[in-house]
Amino acid sequence: MRRAFETVPIAGNIVIGEGERDEAPMLYIGEPVGAPPPDGVQYPAIDIAVDPLEGTNLCATGAANSIAVLAASEAGGLLHAPDCYMEKIIAGPASQGALDIDAPVVDNLRAIARRLERHVMDLVVIVLDRPRHEKLIADIRQAGARIRLIGDGDLSAGIAAAVRGTGVHAVMGIGGAPEGVITAAALRCLHGEMVGRLVAASPEQEERMARMGITDPRKVYRAEDLAPGKQIIFVACGVTPGSLLQGVRFFGDGYRTHSVVMTSNPNKVRFLDTVHATRKPGPRGVRLY
Ligand code: FBP
Repeated sequence: MRRAFETVPIAGNIVIGEGERDEAPMLYIGEPVGAPPPDGVQYPAIDIAVDPLEGTNLCATGAANSIAVLAASEAGGLLHAPDCYMEKIIAGPASQGALDIDAPVVDNLRAIARRLERHVMDLVVIVLDRPRHEKLIADIRQAGARIRLIGDGDLSAGIAAAVRGTGVHAVMGIGGAPEGVITAAALRCLHGEMVGRLVAASPEQEERMARMGITDPRKVYRAEDLAPGKQIIFVACGVTPGSLLQGVRFFGDGYRTHSVVMTSNPNKVRFLDTVHATRKPGPRGVRLY
């Protein structure tokens, strides 16, 4: 990802990068990326949020829905979220304006069901399988909705909730804040609905929020607040096979990737299915699968 940026004519700035706590050597917050401009030329200023491997454990275990992902916008178009947690409720376009992060779980599920013209028992809600979600899971069960517990990857789950026909109607619970901003960028392109609130797990995290200019730690964000850019681009490439994207498939003489490229303005969703030939093909030509 870092190498690819060197070919793109932008004055890019990483606003969400490889964990600030990890002190990653590349794609760290504040790193300038993009091709060096020729003398006298100024490339457009672009803010970029990356998650080069969302679902690290999913990839390591060969489980579904690990993706490489980035979002971009004109400068100032993506929230500089600290590397902390975020409480989230994510649903599809039908739920615009219907979610309330302070309302009981059952009320939000009823609101989503009403907008989708179905019963609460016909909703599928994705929740990260974590001890912190014990009460949330009990509340969802009590309300009568169906739960799909996932080991990791609430970003691709959020996208699935905004796309019709995936069989996922909502994502609820606490996940990463950086993932929340990138999800919001995708939702801006898909017209999905989201409410989120940062969760500071320690006084140090509260201080970090304040240093990053977040004055109200209880603020409720919608997708438009997390990714307010006028021109949003969201790109994801499947690493392991998932509900929206195929994983990377390797052949002896190349590999095949499946990506989605979404833009908010113009509003387009494009899928790219690419065969990368890495060697001169044998006598039977380029392998496609
Ligand atoms: P990584 O790929 O960085 O490991 O993140 C995976 C993930 O499951 C995210 O999708 C989610 O937002 C976050 O981790 C949840 O964090 P935690 O594992 O600490 O509950």
